[in-house]
Amino acid sequence: MSVDYAAADGVAVLTVNHPPVNALSLVVREGLMAGIRKALADDSVRAIVVKGGGATFIAGADISEFGTEKSRQGPRLQEIQNALETSPKPTVAAIHGTALGGGFELALTCHARVAVASAKVGLPEVKLGLLPGAGGTVRTPRLAGPEVALSIITSGEHVSAEKALGFGLIDAVIDDLDKDAAAFARKLVAEGAPPPVIERNDKITGIDPAVFSGFRSTSAKKFRGQLAPAKIIDCIEAACTRSAADALAFEATAFQELFQSDQRKALIHYFFAEREARKIPDIPDSVKPQKIASAAVIGAGLMGGGIAMVFANSGIPVSVLDVSEEALGKGRGVIEKNYATSVARGSMTQARMDEALARMRFVTRYDEIGPVDIVVEAVFEDMDLKKKIFAELDRATPAETILASNTSSLDIDQIASATKRPDKVVGVHFFSPANVMKLQENVRGKATSHQTLATVMALAKPIGKVAVLAGNCDGFIGNRMLQYYTGEAEFMLEEGATPEQIDRVAESFGMAMGPLAMRDLAGMDTSVRIRAIRRKTLPADERMTDIVERLVEAGRIGQKAGKGYYRYEGRTRLPDPEALAIIEEASRAAGVTRRTFTDEEVLHRLFFPMVNEAAKELEEGIAIRASDIDVVWVNGYGFPAHRGGPMFWAEQVGLDKVLATSRALAPRRGVRWAPAKLLERLVAEGKGWASVG
Ligand code: 3HC
Repeated sequence: MSVDYAAADGVAVLTVNHPPVNALSLVVREGLMAGIRKALADDSVRAIVVKGGGATFIAGADISEFGTEKSRQGPRLQEIQNALETSPKPTVAAIHGTALGGGFELALTCHARVAVASAKVGLPEVKLGLLPGAGGTVRTPRLAGPEVALSIITSGEHVSAEKALGFGLIDAVIDDLDKDAAAFARKLVAEGAPPPVIERNDKITGIDPAVFSGFRSTSAKKFRGQLAPAKIIDCIEAACTRSAADALAFEATAFQELFQSDQRKALIHYFFAEREARKIPDIPDSVKPQKIASAAVIGAGLMGGGIAMVFANSGIPVSVLDVSEEALGKGRGVIEKNYATSVARGSMTQARMDEALARMRFVTRYDEIGPVDIVVEAVFEDMDLKKKIFAELDRATPAETILASNTSSLDIDQIASATKRPDKVVGVHFFSPANVMKLQENVRGKATSHQTLATVMALAKPIGKVAVLAGNCDGFIGNRMLQYYTGEAEFMLEEGATPEQIDRVAESFGMAMGPLAMRDLAGMDTSVRIRAIRRKTLPADERMTDIVERLVEAGRIGQKAGKGYYRYEGRTRLPDPEALAIIEEASRAAGVTRRTFTDEEVLHRLFFPMVNEAAKELEEGIAIRASDIDVVWVNGYGFPAHRGGPMFWAEQVGLDKVLATSRALAPRRGVRWAPAKLLERLVAEGKGWASVG
C-alpha cells in the first residue's frame, strides 16, 4: 500500500510509503483520499495525522507523471487538500526529511504542521519553471507575510524547521515524529483546532504595494529572461490584495500558463538530466564507492585553494601542499579573505568559517600529507610537472588513496603512467571559482577502476557539486566545446559584429556573461600565451584571428587594465571606439569585408558549432548522453538552465539548422568544423538525441 492507515487512541495516522521521495503519484493521491475518508467515517477517530514513511515527508507532485494520463486520473491534489482543510476532525502534518512543493502545500491545508528539527520545508517549483499550483502562493503569505513568501518562493529555498517556525509556517518543532505529532493532534482535539489558513485570513490588508514593486526591481537582473519568478510575484501580490478564493483562481491560471511554457519543459528536462548524469551504465550496482573522510590538495593557488574550501566546507579535513611557505602563506591568505567576504555578506557565520579553517592543514612536504582518502592535484597545466607530482604522491600515500588531477585538458592516461596505481588515477575537474561553481567533471582514464569512478561520482553530493563523467580527450566535454564558442565569437568580430552585439545576444539568451566580457574579466594576457602554443599545433587547414593579440599589444588586456574589448568605468563596461578600430584593422589585415549580423545569426553561430562538436563527443563516447552535456554547460559555463542546456535547446531549435550552419562554416574553418556524422544521421532520420545510445 502506498498509504498505510493506522488508528490508535483516537488518532488516525496516514503514512505515505512511496519511495524514493513519496511524491504525489496517482497511487498516493488515491491512498490519501481513501485514508481521509476512512478516518472521517470512523467515529473512534478524533484527529488525523499525515506523515511520510522512510526518509522523508512528501517531496511534491510526481514530476514524472506530468502531462501523462495518470496526472489526470484519481483525486486531484486540490481535492485532498479540500478534504483536509474542511475536515471536522483536526488534521496535522507531521514532517521529517523534506516537505516540498505540493507536499508542503498539502501540509499547509492541515489545521497544524509540526516538524522534527532536521526537517526542511519549501516551494521549489520555480526550479522547474513552475509556481506552487496548489495554494502555496496564497497560503504562504497568509502565514508568513509577503516578504518571506516572495523570498522563499522565488528562490525555491529549503527552509529549516527552526526558520519555518519563526516564519509561522509550522506550529511546533517536535522531538519524536510519531508520539509528539499524535500528542499535538490530541491537544487540538481537546482545545479545538485553529481555523484553516485561508479562513483565518481570507483577505490580507494593510500591505504596502511598494513591497512588490521594490522586489520586482531589485530582483529583475537575477531573474532576467525567466518566466516563473515574475508570475510568482504576481501571484503573491494577488494573494495579498484579493480574497483567498480569487487568489487561488489567479494562481491556477498562472500555473497553467507556466505549465505550457518551453521553460517548464526545459527545466524539467534539466531536473532529470542532473539525476541521470550520476548513473554510469557499465558500473554494476555491486561496486561500492570508497569512503572519503579526508583529502589533500596539491597547489595552494586560486584553484587549489578553492578546492580545499570545498572539502573543508563539507566537513572533510584537508591538507594543502605547496612548494614553499611563501606560496602556502599567499594561498592561505586568499582562502581567509574569501571566507571573510562570505561572513561579511552574511552567507556564512564566523563560527562556520573558523570550523572550516580549522579543518585545513598547510604543508610543504609530501610525507606530511598523511594517509588521506583522496588527493586532488591542482597545479598549472604542465605534463612533466604533473607526472613528477603523481610519482611523488604514489610514493607518499597509501596504495588505496585515490589520486585525482584537476587538469582541464591534459591526458589522464599519461598522468596515470607516472604511478603504479593507474586504476586509482582519475580526473576531477572543478571550475573556477571552485568553491562557487557546481560542476565536477570527472574524467575516466583507460585504467581507472569502476570503484574509483564510483567514488568520485558519489563524492559530488556531499561536497555540494554536480558530477558528470567524461572520457579522456583534449578539453574533455566542456572545454572541447568551448573552443568553438569563443572561436566563433572571434570570427564574427572579424566579419563585422561588435563586442556589444555578441555579448548582448549571449546575455539576453540567458548566459551569465557574454564570451567577450568574460575574456575581459579573466584577463587576456594569459590567453595570449596559451594561444601562442595553440597556434603551433593548429591543423594546416585552420587559422585563428589575431584580435586578442592586437588588443593585448595595445595594452587592452581586460578589466584589470580598465580596457579590453570594452572600456571600463569601475566594473561598468562601455563600448569603446578604440577597441572597435583595432578590430576593424584586424578585419582589413585578414582581407575580410565587414558586414552586419542579425541577432539570430549571432546566436546560432555562437552555439551551433559547439553543439556539432558535442555530437562528435557523443559519437566517440566522450559523453555518455546528450543530457550530460547539458549538465556540464549549465553548471560549468553559465548556460541558462531554463533553456535546458545547449543540446536540449538545439533540438528545440532544430538539429537541421545546426547541421546547415556546420555545413556552411566547414569549408571556411577547416575539417574539424565539418558536420558530425551523428548529426547528419539524426537529421536524415528525423530523430533526436534521445535515440542515441
Ligand atoms: N517527482 C518524481 N520523481 C522525483 C521527484 C518528484 N517530485 N523528486 C525526486 N524524484 C526522483 C528523482 O528523479 C530521483 O530518481 P532516480 O533515483 O530514479 O534518479 C529520486 O527521486 C531521488 O531524487 P534525488 O536524487 O534528487 O534525491 P535527493 O535525496 O538528493 O533529493 C529531493 C530529494 C530534495 C526531494 C529532490 O529530489 C528534489 O528536490 N525533488 C524535487 C522536489 C520538487 O521540485 N517538488 C515540487 C514538484 S512540482 C509540484 O509539487 C507542483 C505543485 O505545486 C502542484
